[in-house]
Amino acid sequence: MSEDKREDDFDIALRPRALHDFIGQKTFVENLEIYISAAKKRNEPLDHILLSGPPGLGKTTLSNIVSKEMGVDFRGTSAPVLTKVGDLAAILTDMKRGDVFFIDEIHRLNKSVEEVLYSAMEDFSIDIIIGQGPAAKTLKVDIEPFTLVGATTRSGLLSAPLLARFGINEKLDFYNNEELFKIIKRAASILKIGIDEDAGMFLAGCSRGTPRRANSILRRVRDFAQVKGKSTITLDIVKEALERLGIDNLGLNKNDKKLLEVVIKHYGGGPVGCKTLAISLGEEVDTIEDVYEPYLIQIGFLQRTPRGRVATVKAYEHLGFDIPLNFQDREANLFSSQE
Ligand SMILES: Nc1ncnc2c1ncn2[C@@H]1O[C@H](COP(=O)(O)OP(=O)(O)OP(=O)(O)O)[C@@H](O)[C@H]1O
Ligand SMILES: [Mg+2]
Repeated sequence: MSEDKREDDFDIALRPRALHDFIGQKTFVENLEIYISAAKKRNEPLDHILLSGPPGLGKTTLSNIVSKEMGVDFRGTSAPVLTKVGDLAAILTDMKRGDVFFIDEIHRLNKSVEEVLYSAMEDFSIDIIIGQGPAAKTLKVDIEPFTLVGATTRSGLLSAPLLARFGINEKLDFYNNEELFKIIKRAASILKIGIDEDAGMFLAGCSRGTPRRANSILRRVRDFAQVKGKSTITLDIVKEALERLGIDNLGLNKNDKKLLEVVIKHYGGGPVGCKTLAISLGEEVDTIEDVYEPYLIQIGFLQRTPRGRVATVKAYEHLGFDIPLNFQDREANLFSSQE
Protein backbone atom coordinates (compact mmCIF):
# COMPACT_ATOMS: atom_id res chain seq x y z
CA MET A 1 0.00 0.00 0.00
CA SER A 2 1.41 3.40 -0.91
CA GLU A 3 2.07 6.04 1.71
CA ASP A 4 -0.65 8.27 0.23
CA LYS A 5 -3.21 5.49 0.32
CA ARG A 6 -2.38 4.69 3.94
CA GLU A 7 -2.64 8.36 4.80
CA ASP A 8 -6.09 8.45 3.16
CA ASP A 9 -7.31 5.41 5.10
CA PHE A 10 -6.04 7.00 8.25
CA ASP A 11 -7.86 10.24 7.40
CA ILE A 12 -11.11 8.37 6.85
CA ALA A 13 -10.81 6.41 10.11
CA LEU A 14 -10.47 9.64 12.06
CA ARG A 15 -13.21 11.51 10.25
CA PRO A 16 -16.08 12.54 12.53
CA ARG A 17 -19.34 10.97 11.29
CA ALA A 18 -21.94 13.12 13.06
CA LEU A 19 -22.33 16.80 13.73
CA HIS A 20 -21.96 16.31 17.48
CA ASP A 21 -18.55 14.65 16.87
CA PHE A 22 -17.34 17.57 14.81
CA ILE A 23 -15.08 19.79 16.89
CA GLY A 24 -14.72 23.55 16.25
CA GLN A 25 -16.32 25.85 13.62
CA LYS A 26 -18.87 26.38 16.37
CA THR A 27 -21.09 29.09 14.88
CA PHE A 28 -21.34 27.36 11.55
CA VAL A 29 -22.04 23.96 13.11
CA GLU A 30 -24.81 25.47 15.26
CA ASN A 31 -26.34 27.16 12.22
CA LEU A 32 -26.07 23.99 10.22
CA GLU A 33 -27.95 22.11 12.95
CA ILE A 34 -30.78 24.62 12.63
CA TYR A 35 -30.85 24.48 8.81
CA ILE A 36 -30.87 20.69 8.90
CA SER A 37 -33.63 20.33 11.44
CA ALA A 38 -35.74 22.98 9.68
CA ALA A 39 -35.31 21.30 6.30
CA LYS A 40 -36.22 17.94 7.81
CA LYS A 41 -39.34 19.39 9.44
CA ARG A 42 -40.45 20.87 6.14
CA ASN A 43 -39.51 17.63 4.45
CA GLU A 44 -37.45 19.60 1.96
CA PRO A 45 -33.90 19.17 0.70
CA LEU A 46 -31.30 21.35 2.35
CA ASP A 47 -30.18 24.52 0.56
CA HIS A 48 -27.05 24.32 -1.59
CA ILE A 49 -23.92 24.80 0.50
CA LEU A 50 -20.55 26.25 -0.44
CA LEU A 51 -17.68 25.42 1.92
CA SER A 52 -14.45 27.29 1.42
CA GLY A 53 -11.15 27.47 3.25
CA PRO A 54 -7.60 26.12 3.26
CA PRO A 55 -6.92 22.38 2.86
CA GLY A 56 -7.53 20.01 5.76
CA LEU A 57 -10.04 22.09 7.73
CA GLY A 58 -12.94 19.66 7.31
CA LYS A 59 -14.81 20.57 4.12
CA THR A 60 -15.12 16.99 2.87
CA THR A 61 -15.84 15.76 6.39
CA LEU A 62 -18.69 18.24 6.82
CA SER A 63 -20.19 17.37 3.45
CA ASN A 64 -20.37 13.72 4.46
CA ILE A 65 -21.87 14.66 7.81
CA VAL A 66 -24.57 16.75 6.10
CA SER A 67 -25.78 13.75 4.10
CA LYS A 68 -25.75 11.51 7.18
CA GLU A 69 -27.66 14.04 9.29
CA MET A 70 -30.21 14.54 6.52
CA GLY A 71 -30.49 10.77 6.13
CA VAL A 72 -29.79 10.89 2.40
CA ASP A 73 -27.22 9.39 0.04
CA PHE A 74 -23.92 11.05 -0.75
CA ARG A 75 -22.56 11.35 -4.29
CA GLY A 76 -19.07 12.79 -4.50
CA THR A 77 -16.94 13.96 -7.39
CA SER A 78 -14.46 16.70 -8.11
CA ALA A 79 -14.54 19.42 -10.74
CA PRO A 80 -11.39 18.34 -12.63
CA VAL A 81 -12.97 14.88 -13.16
CA LEU A 82 -16.41 16.20 -14.08
CA THR A 83 -15.47 17.42 -17.54
CA LYS A 84 -18.40 16.19 -19.61
CA VAL A 85 -21.95 17.55 -19.51
CA GLY A 86 -23.14 13.98 -20.14
CA ASP A 87 -21.44 12.73 -16.97
CA LEU A 88 -23.08 15.48 -14.95
CA ALA A 89 -26.48 14.71 -16.48
CA ALA A 90 -26.02 11.01 -15.68
CA ILE A 91 -25.35 11.78 -12.02
CA LEU A 92 -28.14 14.33 -11.66
CA THR A 93 -30.80 12.16 -13.26
CA ASP A 94 -29.79 9.25 -11.05
CA MET A 95 -30.12 11.07 -7.73
CA LYS A 96 -33.00 10.63 -5.32
CA ARG A 97 -34.89 13.44 -3.63
CA GLY A 98 -32.73 15.32 -1.14
CA ASP A 99 -29.47 13.51 -1.93
CA VAL A 100 -26.19 15.35 -1.40
CA PHE A 101 -24.10 15.92 -4.51
CA PHE A 102 -20.59 16.92 -3.46
CA ILE A 103 -18.25 18.65 -5.91
CA ASP A 104 -14.73 19.16 -4.65
CA GLU A 105 -12.51 21.92 -6.07
CA ILE A 106 -15.63 23.51 -7.49
CA HIS A 107 -13.67 26.59 -8.62
CA ARG A 108 -12.23 24.37 -11.38
CA LEU A 109 -15.50 23.48 -13.14
CA ASN A 110 -15.44 23.82 -16.88
CA LYS A 111 -17.79 26.39 -18.37
CA SER A 112 -20.24 24.10 -20.12
CA VAL A 113 -20.65 21.85 -17.08
CA GLU A 114 -21.09 24.92 -14.89
CA GLU A 115 -23.86 26.27 -17.10
CA VAL A 116 -25.84 23.05 -16.88
CA LEU A 117 -25.41 23.16 -13.15
CA TYR A 118 -27.08 26.60 -12.98
CA SER A 119 -30.51 25.34 -14.04
CA ALA A 120 -30.04 22.12 -12.10
CA MET A 121 -29.42 24.08 -8.90
CA GLU A 122 -32.11 26.66 -9.49
CA ASP A 123 -35.00 24.90 -11.20
CA PHE A 124 -34.05 21.25 -10.69
CA SER A 125 -34.10 20.70 -14.42
CA ILE A 126 -31.49 20.29 -17.12
CA ASP A 127 -31.50 20.90 -20.85
CA ILE A 128 -30.17 17.98 -22.81
CA ILE A 129 -29.31 18.43 -26.49
CA ILE A 130 -30.25 15.48 -28.65
CA GLY A 131 -28.80 15.03 -32.09
CA GLN A 132 -26.47 17.33 -34.00
CA GLY A 133 -26.62 20.20 -36.46
CA PRO A 134 -29.95 21.70 -37.63
CA ALA A 135 -31.91 18.64 -36.47
CA ALA A 136 -30.66 18.98 -32.88
CA LYS A 137 -33.36 19.35 -30.28
CA THR A 138 -33.25 20.52 -26.72
CA LEU A 139 -35.04 18.38 -24.22
CA LYS A 140 -35.85 19.70 -20.79
CA VAL A 141 -35.48 16.98 -18.18
CA ASP A 142 -36.69 17.35 -14.61
CA ILE A 143 -34.48 16.04 -11.84
CA GLU A 144 -35.18 15.35 -8.19
CA PRO A 145 -34.47 18.29 -5.88
CA PHE A 146 -31.01 17.76 -4.41
CA THR A 147 -28.43 19.56 -2.30
CA LEU A 148 -25.24 20.60 -3.97
CA VAL A 149 -22.31 20.89 -1.60
CA GLY A 150 -19.35 22.58 -3.22
CA ALA A 151 -15.92 22.70 -1.62
CA THR A 152 -13.14 25.06 -2.61
CA THR A 153 -9.88 26.44 -1.35
CA ARG A 154 -10.49 29.50 -3.57
CA SER A 155 -14.00 30.90 -3.32
CA GLY A 156 -12.66 34.07 -4.95
CA LEU A 157 -12.36 32.16 -8.22
CA LEU A 158 -16.03 31.18 -8.38
CA SER A 159 -18.12 32.97 -10.99
CA ALA A 160 -20.81 35.31 -9.69
CA PRO A 161 -23.74 33.28 -11.11
CA LEU A 162 -22.49 30.09 -9.46
CA LEU A 163 -21.81 31.83 -6.17
CA ALA A 164 -25.29 33.34 -6.17
CA ARG A 165 -26.91 29.90 -6.33
CA PHE A 166 -25.57 28.78 -2.96
CA GLY A 167 -28.02 29.58 -0.17
CA ILE A 168 -25.40 28.76 2.47
CA ASN A 169 -21.89 30.07 1.97
CA GLU A 170 -19.40 29.37 4.70
CA LYS A 171 -15.71 30.03 5.03
CA LEU A 172 -14.05 27.62 7.45
CA ASP A 173 -11.50 29.15 9.80
CA PHE A 174 -8.29 27.78 11.21
CA TYR A 175 -8.86 25.97 14.53
CA ASN A 176 -7.61 27.31 17.82
CA ASN A 177 -5.32 25.27 20.08
CA GLU A 178 -8.10 24.14 22.44
CA GLU A 179 -10.09 22.77 19.51
CA LEU A 180 -7.03 21.07 18.04
CA PHE A 181 -6.27 19.61 21.45
CA LYS A 182 -9.74 18.04 21.56
CA ILE A 183 -9.29 16.72 18.01
CA ILE A 184 -5.94 15.19 19.00
CA LYS A 185 -7.41 13.58 22.14
CA ARG A 186 -10.24 12.12 20.12
CA ALA A 187 -7.88 10.81 17.43
CA ALA A 188 -5.52 9.34 20.05
CA SER A 189 -8.38 7.46 21.63
CA ILE A 190 -9.47 6.07 18.26
CA LEU A 191 -5.85 5.03 17.67
CA LYS A 192 -5.80 3.51 21.17
CA ILE A 193 -2.82 5.43 22.45
CA GLY A 194 -2.63 7.68 25.50
CA ILE A 195 -1.41 11.26 25.32
CA ASP A 196 -0.37 13.52 28.19
CA GLU A 197 -2.08 16.89 28.55
CA ASP A 198 1.11 18.94 27.92
CA ALA A 199 2.09 16.73 25.00
CA GLY A 200 -1.34 17.20 23.42
CA MET A 201 -1.27 20.97 23.90
CA PHE A 202 2.22 21.21 22.40
CA LEU A 203 1.18 19.14 19.43
CA ALA A 204 -1.90 21.34 18.98
CA GLY A 205 0.34 24.41 18.81
CA CYS A 206 2.37 22.83 16.01
CA SER A 207 -0.60 21.85 13.86
CA ARG A 208 -0.99 25.05 11.80
CA GLY A 209 -4.58 25.41 12.94
CA THR A 210 -5.41 22.38 10.75
CA PRO A 211 -7.01 19.11 11.92
CA ARG A 212 -5.48 17.10 9.08
CA ARG A 213 -2.04 18.31 10.12
CA ALA A 214 -2.75 17.53 13.79
CA ASN A 215 -3.79 13.99 12.88
CA SER A 216 -0.86 13.35 10.60
CA ILE A 217 1.69 14.57 13.17
CA LEU A 218 -0.07 12.48 15.81
CA ARG A 219 0.33 9.45 13.60
CA ARG A 220 4.09 10.01 13.32
CA VAL A 221 4.44 10.73 17.02
CA ARG A 222 2.58 7.51 17.80
CA ASP A 223 5.20 5.63 15.75
CA PHE A 224 7.96 7.19 17.84
CA ALA A 225 6.16 6.28 21.07
CA GLN A 226 5.56 2.71 19.98
CA VAL A 227 9.17 2.20 18.90
CA LYS A 228 10.14 3.31 22.39
CA GLY A 229 7.67 0.81 23.82
CA LYS A 230 5.47 3.53 25.35
CA SER A 231 1.68 3.33 25.47
CA THR A 232 1.36 7.03 26.28
CA ILE A 233 2.72 9.97 24.28
CA THR A 234 4.70 12.33 26.50
CA LEU A 235 5.96 15.86 25.86
CA ASP A 236 9.51 14.58 25.37
CA ILE A 237 8.39 12.19 22.69
CA VAL A 238 6.42 14.93 20.89
CA LYS A 239 9.38 17.32 20.96
CA GLU A 240 11.81 14.70 19.72
CA ALA A 241 9.47 13.59 16.94
CA LEU A 242 8.81 17.14 15.78
CA GLU A 243 12.49 17.87 15.64
CA ARG A 244 13.07 14.79 13.53
CA LEU A 245 10.20 15.85 11.26
CA GLY A 246 11.69 19.34 10.90
CA ILE A 247 8.62 21.04 12.36
CA ASP A 248 9.16 23.94 14.75
CA ASN A 249 7.14 25.08 17.76
CA LEU A 250 4.74 27.07 15.57
CA GLY A 251 4.25 24.20 13.16
CA LEU A 252 6.40 25.67 10.41
CA ASN A 253 8.30 23.16 8.31
CA LYS A 254 11.23 23.65 6.00
CA ASN A 255 9.03 24.78 3.10
CA ASP A 256 7.40 27.53 5.16
CA LYS A 257 10.80 28.68 6.37
CA LYS A 258 12.25 28.59 2.89
CA LEU A 259 9.41 30.80 1.65
CA LEU A 260 10.00 33.37 4.38
CA GLU A 261 13.76 33.18 3.86
CA VAL A 262 13.39 33.88 0.15
CA VAL A 263 11.25 36.95 0.91
CA ILE A 264 13.70 38.16 3.56
CA LYS A 265 17.06 37.27 2.06
CA HIS A 266 16.47 37.64 -1.67
CA TYR A 267 13.90 40.42 -1.71
CA GLY A 268 14.81 42.47 1.35
CA GLY A 269 11.61 41.42 3.14
CA GLY A 270 9.43 42.16 0.11
CA PRO A 271 7.25 43.22 -1.49
CA VAL A 272 7.61 40.33 -3.87
CA GLY A 273 4.98 39.05 -6.30
CA CYS A 274 3.56 35.59 -5.81
CA LYS A 275 4.68 34.48 -9.29
CA THR A 276 8.27 35.48 -8.57
CA LEU A 277 8.09 33.70 -5.25
CA ALA A 278 6.72 30.57 -6.92
CA ILE A 279 9.60 30.52 -9.42
CA SER A 280 12.20 31.03 -6.68
CA LEU A 281 10.73 28.15 -4.68
CA GLY A 282 10.03 25.85 -7.62
CA GLU A 283 6.37 25.65 -6.59
CA GLU A 284 3.05 26.35 -8.27
CA VAL A 285 1.44 29.73 -7.56
CA ASP A 286 -1.71 27.86 -6.44
CA THR A 287 0.25 25.82 -3.89
CA ILE A 288 1.77 28.95 -2.43
CA GLU A 289 -1.59 30.72 -2.26
CA ASP A 290 -3.62 27.75 -1.00
CA VAL A 291 -1.23 25.81 1.19
CA TYR A 292 1.60 27.97 2.49
CA GLU A 293 0.32 31.50 2.67
CA PRO A 294 -2.97 31.29 4.57
CA TYR A 295 -1.35 30.09 7.77
CA LEU A 296 1.66 32.41 7.50
CA ILE A 297 -0.78 35.29 7.08
CA GLN A 298 -2.96 34.04 9.93
CA ILE A 299 -0.04 34.03 12.40
CA GLY A 300 1.06 37.44 11.18
CA PHE A 301 4.32 36.38 9.50
CA LEU A 302 3.39 37.40 5.99
CA GLN A 303 1.21 40.16 4.58
CA ARG A 304 -0.47 40.59 1.24
CA THR A 305 -0.06 44.17 0.07
CA PRO A 306 -1.04 45.83 -3.22
CA ARG A 307 2.57 45.39 -4.38
CA GLY A 308 3.20 41.82 -3.26
CA ARG A 309 4.07 39.67 -0.28
CA VAL A 310 5.91 41.16 2.66
CA ALA A 311 7.60 39.47 5.62
CA THR A 312 6.74 41.03 8.99
CA VAL A 313 8.87 41.88 12.02
CA LYS A 314 7.49 38.72 13.67
CA ALA A 315 8.84 36.58 10.83
CA TYR A 316 12.27 38.21 11.06
CA GLU A 317 12.32 37.57 14.80
CA HIS A 318 11.12 33.99 14.60
CA LEU A 319 13.73 33.06 11.99
CA GLY A 320 16.46 35.02 13.79
CA PHE A 321 17.14 37.68 11.14
CA ASP A 322 18.16 41.25 12.03
CA ILE A 323 15.36 43.71 11.43
CA PRO A 324 16.32 46.36 8.85
CA LEU A 325 16.52 49.94 10.17
CA ASN A 326 13.80 51.59 8.07
CA PHE A 327 11.34 48.71 8.47
CA GLN A 328 8.43 50.62 10.02
CA ASP A 329 8.45 53.35 7.31
CA ARG A 330 8.30 50.64 4.71
CA GLU A 331 5.11 49.18 6.19
CA ALA A 332 3.35 52.56 5.99
CA ASN A 333 4.37 53.03 2.32
CA LEU A 334 3.32 49.60 1.18
CA PHE A 335 -0.34 49.89 1.97
CA SER A 336 -0.75 53.29 0.38
CA SER A 337 0.87 52.40 -2.95
CA GLN A 338 -1.04 50.99 -5.89
CA GLU A 339 -0.04 48.12 -8.19
N1 LIG B 1 -13.68 19.32 13.12
C1 LIG B 1 -12.96 18.21 13.05
N2 LIG B 1 -12.90 17.38 14.09
C2 LIG B 1 -12.12 16.28 14.02
N3 LIG B 1 -11.40 15.91 12.94
C3 LIG B 1 -11.46 16.69 11.88
C4 LIG B 1 -12.24 17.87 11.86
N4 LIG B 1 -12.10 18.46 10.65
C5 LIG B 1 -11.28 17.68 9.96
N5 LIG B 1 -10.88 16.63 10.67
C6 LIG B 1 -9.92 15.62 10.27
O1 LIG B 1 -9.08 16.19 9.30
C7 LIG B 1 -9.09 15.41 8.12
C8 LIG B 1 -9.14 16.34 6.93
O2 LIG B 1 -10.42 16.90 6.79
P1 LIG B 1 -11.12 17.03 5.36
O3 LIG B 1 -10.64 15.97 4.44
O4 LIG B 1 -12.58 17.13 5.59
O5 LIG B 1 -10.53 18.43 4.92
P2 LIG B 1 -10.84 19.29 3.62
O6 LIG B 1 -11.19 20.65 4.09
O7 LIG B 1 -11.82 18.58 2.75
O8 LIG B 1 -9.42 19.35 2.90
P3 LIG B 1 -9.05 19.51 1.31
O9 LIG B 1 -9.25 20.96 0.96
O10 LIG B 1 -7.60 19.12 1.25
O11 LIG B 1 -9.94 18.58 0.56
C9 LIG B 1 -10.29 14.49 8.24
O12 LIG B 1 -10.05 13.22 7.74
C10 LIG B 1 -10.56 14.37 9.72
O13 LIG B 1 -9.86 13.26 10.22
MG1 LIG C 1 -11.56 17.64 0.92
